[in-house]
Amino acid sequence: MEFTAKSGNPEKQRTACIVVGVFEPRRLSPAAERLDQVSDGFISNLIRRGDLEGKIGLTLLLHSVPNTLCDRILLIGCGRERELHDAQYRKIMATTASTLNDIGAMEAVCYLTELHVKGRDNHWNIRQAVETMEDSLYSFDQLKSKKDATRRPLRKIVLSVASRRELQDSDAAVSEGDAIAQGVKFAKDLGNLPGNICTPSYLAEQALELAKQFDSITTEILDQAEMEELGMGALLSVAKGSRQAPKLICMTHNGNGKSKPIVLVGKGLTFDAGGISLKPAAAMDEMKYDMCGGASVFGVMKAVAQLNLPLNIIGVVPSSENMPDGAANKPGDIVTSMSGQTIEILNTDAEGRLILCDALTYSEKYDPEVVIDIATLTGACVVALGKHASGLLSNHSPLAHDLLNAGRSSGDRAWELPLWEEYQEQLKSPFADMANIGGRDAGTITAACFLSSFTKKYNWAHLDIAGSAWRSGEKKSATGRPVPLLTQYLLDRCKEK
Ligand code: BES
Ligand code: MN
Ligand code: ZN
Repeated sequence: MEFTAKSGNPEKQRTACIVVGVFEPRRLSPAAERLDQVSDGFISNLIRRGDLEGKIGLTLLLHSVPNTLCDRILLIGCGRERELHDAQYRKIMATTASTLNDIGAMEAVCYLTELHVKGRDNHWNIRQAVETMEDSLYSFDQLKSKKDATRRPLRKIVLSVASRRELQDSDAAVSEGDAIAQGVKFAKDLGNLPGNICTPSYLAEQALELAKQFDSITTEILDQAEMEELGMGALLSVAKGSRQAPKLICMTHNGNGKSKPIVLVGKGLTFDAGGISLKPAAAMDEMKYDMCGGASVFGVMKAVAQLNLPLNIIGVVPSSENMPDGAANKPGDIVTSMSGQTIEILNTDAEGRLILCDALTYSEKYDPEVVIDIATLTGACVVALGKHASGLLSNHSPLAHDLLNAGRSSGDRAWELPLWEEYQEQLKSPFADMANIGGRDAGTITAACFLSSFTKKYNWAHLDIAGSAWRSGEKKSATGRPVPLLTQYLLDRCKEK
């Protein structure tokens, strides 16, 4: 989809469709009011008859409105004006995109970006409009042999801006929104691909492809032999039960000469059967999503390359399957990680931390400014926070603070859990330096505690995206989160400088 920002009067737009808002109860937005005036009350007449009360999510399509240059006007219910918050705005934008797509208007001028959203500005409105519309038009049909193609799909949307003065900033907002949307789409596609297609080798190929597409990106892939050389005993132990070769995928976006890089480490378990501690059958297919942390790193790399951000950013994705097999890890096995610390594997299903810990130690070589890992790490995080927030744990409170803020402003929120020393107790092992599980209590925290033993040398944050990375049920799909949060964090870092 192509987005542009523009300012101008609605009655002067020569377009297939104009989109304006109606608030509850039966109150016209300024743009709707203007169209009503030029058409001698055409819209207010309909509204008075009760055709659209302004309820959020409801729509009314008008044809041949007098004294306008457009083919149609689409009225969108916006709810109560005073209750127009982030969530309502996103709902309105999603309704707009899907309705436009359904009615066969291939292009439109949307005035809803001029509405006032509580605590937000024009820049936010424009960017969210782009992201939300792209998100709601997404579908994953690559693997359907017959695609139900929309006859006249939506191609171009002009987003209206109240004054010319805001145009330059609006163009920047469109570019940011577009880059984030592309990153989100990339992460969703990788997430939705099944485990038999999206293997560690497939992910490695995608990383090489990114380096081909963008001059700022270089990719390096470490194979099993190279990882053995580095002593990555924890990571490699997870791959032992799989026929798929593990990969350590390293992508570098070089945007700022010699400055210290920000390193993103994403869990890339292309399928997590649990290993010998086999998972139950129900919904096990969803464990193809266990590489969504890695996918979000791919998505962010794409977004920052597209935006050409003046930062050095490194994406590290340790990738493997976790399968039951005669050669697989067994409960009680003790492995030596790259850091030299030994780990007793009490449950082979707690494999994410095993591949991450070696990738985190490996990240030391980049002399990082900060390291952020992203992982579908614990079912406990879904119990604690549900699907609305990602779990955040960190050894550096300014970093946690920045990430929480980035979550709030991007609408891709995280919530902090404590990383107190006291929880470490739960990981004690009689035979090794630590166990890989910490019992039933505080599962998300003990998983992060485990990782914290490998991140002592730098400022680090961990995002547990077990609840936020995908949706189950009828609309099962990867969400592309937390690409918006992470890209926002990086955009904020650029402004700091
Ligand atoms: N990938 C899973 C976590 C997960 C489970 C995410 C369900 C989303 C939905 C992870 O590898 C795992 O299996 N974790 C175990 C850890 C436990 C054995 C300590 C879990 O959460 O049950
Ligand atoms: Mn697991
Ligand atoms: Zn897992």
